[in-house]
Amino acid sequence: MPTRLFTKKHDVVARFGVDNGVFVWIDGRYMFGALGPGWRRGHFPRFVMPEQDRTLPPFASRPPSRRKTGRSLFRMILRNVTDEDLPIFFEHQRDPEALRMAAFSSRERDAFMTHWRTRVLRPENVTRTIVMGRVVVGNIGSWEQDAKRFVGYWIGREHWGKGIATRALSEFLVLEPTRPLHAWVALHNLASIRVLEKCGFHTMLNEDPHHPDGVAEVLMRLG
Ligand SMILES: CC(C)(COP(=O)(O)OP(=O)(O)OC[C@H]1O[C@@H](n2cnc3c(N)ncnc32)[C@H](O)[C@@H]1OP(=O)(O)O)[C@@H](O)C(=O)NCCC(=O)NCCS
Repeated sequence: MPTRLFTKKHDVVARFGVDNGVFVWIDGRYMFGALGPGWRRGHFPRFVMPEQDRTLPPFASRPPSRRKTGRSLFRMILRNVTDEDLPIFFEHQRDPEALRMAAFSSRERDAFMTHWRTRVLRPENVTRTIVMGRVVVGNIGSWEQDAKRFVGYWIGREHWGKGIATRALSEFLVLEPTRPLHAWVALHNLASIRVLEKCGFHTMLNEDPHHPDGVAEVLMRLG
């Protein structure tokens, strides 16, 4: 495919980072360019722009919306959990599809609050609220169990599929330096297995993969 190299700032008057390329405003229209070698986030792009030809679909007059790409423009923050977050987590954890994925049973409101205040929010655990923009979208945390360090996370259903769990876990791994770090995942929870794999976890085959309640689970490990 013919290419054109843009390296001068005046070639590009607008750009919008997406996964593997950028949109630039050139000659009165937006064009998509795959990022070339050597480009790093935060640097002015040295990228290779495929020339538009008849084989490419016509470019829209505007870049695709974030809703279409599924990626959020908002900055993610992992902050300490406040009491106001708990009712939001409660709503997240009682979603039937989420419960099926995680192979969890929903707790009643009082039991949930007590569990969080007395078991989860302990000084020896690392627990964070995941915030996108100003919206609480889920939680992530680590704890000690059976002499192993575990990580777990839960994202509100309305925020699934936007890369939030992957970003949250990769940022959390900086806060939680313990290695090895483990996660139990229901075998059918392919989204969570994928999140863990993307963050470097691998399946430990030498562990018993079956939960006492009959749900097949895998133990995944980082480090
Ligand atoms: C599992 C969960 C954390 C995923 O959160 P999320 O923010 O939607 O995850 P991400 O968008 O970062 O990544 C999901 C990945 O799984 C993939 N995925 C989603 N559904 C999938 C499926 N059915 N099969 C295979 N992969 C799937 C996505 O394509 C994405 O991978 P990609 O980026 O390579 O395309 C979220 O659904 C959740 O909180 N579920 C309920 C609680 C839970 O299961 N917690 C984990 C307990 S171990």
